[in-house]
Amino acid sequence: MAFFRIIGGAALRGTVRVSGSKNATLPMMAASILADGPVRLEGVPRLADVDTLSLVLGELGMAVTETSPHALLLQTVDRSPVRARYELVRQMRASFCVLGPLLARRRKAVVSLPGGCNIGDRPVDLHLKGLAALGARLRLEKGYVLAEADRLRGTTVALSGPRGSSVTGTANVLSAAVLAAGTTTITGAAREPEIVDLGNFLISMGARIEGLGTSTIRIIGVEQLAATTYPVIPDRIEAATLLLAAAITGGSATVTGVVPEHLEEVLNRLRAAGSQVESGRSHVTITANRRPRPMDLTAQPYPGVPTDLQAQFTALLCLADGRSTVLDRVFNRRFLHVAELNRMGARIEHRDSRAIVTGAGRLSGTSVTASDLRASAALVLAGLAAKGRTVVHQIHHLDRGYERLDQKLGQLGAQIERSNAGSC
Ligand code: UD1
Repeated sequence: MAFFRIIGGAALRGTVRVSGSKNATLPMMAASILADGPVRLEGVPRLADVDTLSLVLGELGMAVTETSPHALLLQTVDRSPVRARYELVRQMRASFCVLGPLLARRRKAVVSLPGGCNIGDRPVDLHLKGLAALGARLRLEKGYVLAEADRLRGTTVALSGPRGSSVTGTANVLSAAVLAAGTTTITGAAREPEIVDLGNFLISMGARIEGLGTSTIRIIGVEQLAATTYPVIPDRIEAATLLLAAAITGGSATVTGVVPEHLEEVLNRLRAAGSQVESGRSHVTITANRRPRPMDLTAQPYPGVPTDLQAQFTALLCLADGRSTVLDRVFNRRFLHVAELNRMGARIEHRDSRAIVTGAGRLSGTSVTASDLRASAALVLAGLAAKGRTVVHQIHHLDRGYERLDQKLGQLGAQIERSNAGSC
């Protein structure tokens, strides 16, 4: 099993470029099922999750070819397969995004329910409700969704749940509605930049969509979608993780190839923590030369601070000069990093969906185990700031969603080494 060995204490300095967005790429790959021609995606990050979805799509009759290091060509070769099996879907929930496109283009789908994961219950009721409203006939059998439809029919679909909108739920319903007969209005739609990017990708294939980036999206169904070449937006979560890495080490770094508007609230919170932040058209520079200030942080749907950065902010606040609270309104059980951070000397109490962080002034290196993708990033950040050596185990979680994070941090002067050896 691979692990990272990190020697903490070096203030990060330099410039690093972010990769394309994982959460934009995955639903676009799934939506390429809809196209009657080849789809070329550019700026695709090289990640384990992209490989997993390529396998799912391969079993669904798509040829997925890497035409250059960050470009994928996706082309349908056989329209008959409709089954996405549990063994693959359970590895990555975003595989469930094939359901809408399969129903819309092939009129049938057999897709495994993804099940729970380490960040809490993750139901798919909104996905199913939305597709049923478009006319799909759905049954649950032996852990699979069996779905059939004639041509889907446009209607009004309310997608807001008790914790806000669903991002991949919106992706599934949007990707299905583009080929429906008539007009679909999604209310309570996710406003995340990745959904806007998916919508723009569908528009580039000939879809008619209005209201992207708002909570009401209107889709006028078309008969068919054509080939496209489309550049994926930069990964705002990776960008922010790199900025937080600079902040937690009291360093100064520039991340390039970003869309600063996607990070507006994140940059506000970094400023509130005492960092100096400056942004241009496609870069952000952070300078942090003081101990972080404590703050109350709430992770919530866009344009709020994303839940995918809650763990990394919690790591930063472990070093703050006072008491902070961190509330996660999206995944209220996403606090598995707390116990590991406490093993590094943090003082965090976890109550309900809130973490109360008493700034410890310093962390000390030890062996810790990553539980999920963003928790891994938080432990790496803590290791960069800690005194001595930190070993982060189970970094396959990190490799699912960060492209060469160790190399990018190394470029900024971090002492971080990947190892596959049996001992540490
Ligand atoms: C996506 C992101 C993930 C991010 C999350 C929240 C991808 C591939 N993944 O996940 O990185 O952490 O958004 O920004 O884009 N819910 C329901 N019913 C549903 C679906 C969701 O109640 O049918 C609830 C969830 O339990 C959660 C909230 O809605 O509390 C938001 O979840 P959702 O936006 O669906 O997360 P994902 O799309 O799975």
